[in-house]
Amino acid sequence: MKKRVYIKTYGCQMNERESESLAAVLGDRGYEIIDDEHSADIILLNTCSVREQAEAKAIGKSNLLSRGKNNGKIIGIVGCMAQNLGEKLFQQSPHTRLVVGPNSIEKIPEYLDQLMENKNNPIIDIETHMIGNQFAARHDEKKVKPSMFVSIMQGCNMRCAYCIVPKTRGPECYRPMETIIDEIQWLAEYGAKEITLLGQIVNHYGNRQMPNVNDKSPFVQLLEKIQTIKDIQRIRFMSPHPNGFRMDLIDAYRDLSKLCPHVHLPLQSGSNKILRAMGRPYTSEQFLSIVAALREKVPNISISTDVIVGFPGETNEDFQMTCNLFEAVKFDMAFVFKYSIRPGTIAEQLEDQISKEEKEERNQILLKKVEHYSQKYNETLVGLKKEILVEGVARRGQQQFEGRTPEYKKVIFLGDENCIGRFVDVKIERSTTSTLLGKLI
Ligand code: SAH
Ligand code: SF4
Ligand code: F3S
Repeated sequence: MKKRVYIKTYGCQMNERESESLAAVLGDRGYEIIDDEHSADIILLNTCSVREQAEAKAIGKSNLLSRGKNNGKIIGIVGCMAQNLGEKLFQQSPHTRLVVGPNSIEKIPEYLDQLMENKNNPIIDIETHMIGNQFAARHDEKKVKPSMFVSIMQGCNMRCAYCIVPKTRGPECYRPMETIIDEIQWLAEYGAKEITLLGQIVNHYGNRQMPNVNDKSPFVQLLEKIQTIKDIQRIRFMSPHPNGFRMDLIDAYRDLSKLCPHVHLPLQSGSNKILRAMGRPYTSEQFLSIVAALREKVPNISISTDVIVGFPGETNEDFQMTCNLFEAVKFDMAFVFKYSIRPGTIAEQLEDQISKEEKEERNQILLKKVEHYSQKYNETLVGLKKEILVEGVARRGQQQFEGRTPEYKKVIFLGDENCIGRFVDVKIERSTTSTLLGKLI
């Protein structure tokens, strides 16, 4: 009988994408991928280490699995936390038999075969390999959705003082452009209409390894090539870094009709002193000038961001500068994170850590601002006709479907199954901070 595998994914879109590849490759090898952990023979947790809480969740889960009657299930901890904690995971979670870092993920099928032969020999692989293109490009053709992720690179060459990602994912490695284009063409044949390019710093794609052409960076060249793929009608990417967000990319928003009017541009802090301490090589003024240039080309562009509150040494004045920047930009969506100490990072050593209470207070203040501006932005869409790509049934069910506008705003509307995977026009009738309600027209 086929061995059944349940994969649970934590963390960012790159992890989601890698879990998809892994599921497809395991399927090729005779494993069955299932959605119900209870009937699984093998449980793989694809984990994240970006904040303490992310690790705590996965460790909690693996302990729960180890403690219960697990009927000889094989438990594997893979992804970023496997890389970060390595061997220790075998002690922390005694039923764990497999620990594999994100850059060795393609070897998991082989390791599972070995474990099926002999469960008593736990396997660990936390080497930094370059993931092969075949793995990176692999999707299950039965699971191609209207909107798909495509990973264009691995790793990160920055050293933001707070961040564990360079440790867990290693240095930047770029996939050859042709293989990315082939993958997207393949996805289009199977019905994908929208592509989101993924990388820790997507706009660093090809840096110093691929030439600029007519002053255009390899990343913009890639966007231009995707623009010519017939059935792909929308292009998105995440996340770019303000560093390297140059005029060629800003112009692309004007020149490439398929590039959606939304950018997720992580700010992290509005204080230049804190940005410097974080090792983010830009100032709040430079950030503002990117925003102004984008808005000049695409007046209604939706701009979202990531920000950290309570980085060591962040005074009330520094935090106020972040608030001021939020007011100046009016981000219509933002992820606000409370700084979390990551062992082994530069910021771990910094003095002047901010208290938990202070972080929470700043978090609340900023969240209120985000809510306010999200609501305001969403209100500007009420009454407008918007084209949405229908992604599926909405959670609330009852003939309710959902899709996104080009600005990445989720719209819920009354429709039927036939809409899924199609572009439809809706009139936006109501808005909340996070969702829009629309009517088919
Ligand atoms: N490569 C992306 C970010 C990846 S991590 C970029 O540079 O933009 C996603 C977000 O998690 C970051 O933007 C940051 O806001 C947050 N983050 C990373 N490390 C963190 C930490 N130690 N504590 C709190 N938030 C953190
Ligand atoms: Fe982390 Fe900074 Fe790299 Fe983003 S750019 S992954 S925040 S080190
Ligand atoms: Fe987490 Fe690794 Fe992504 S640490 S955010 S899963 S790159």
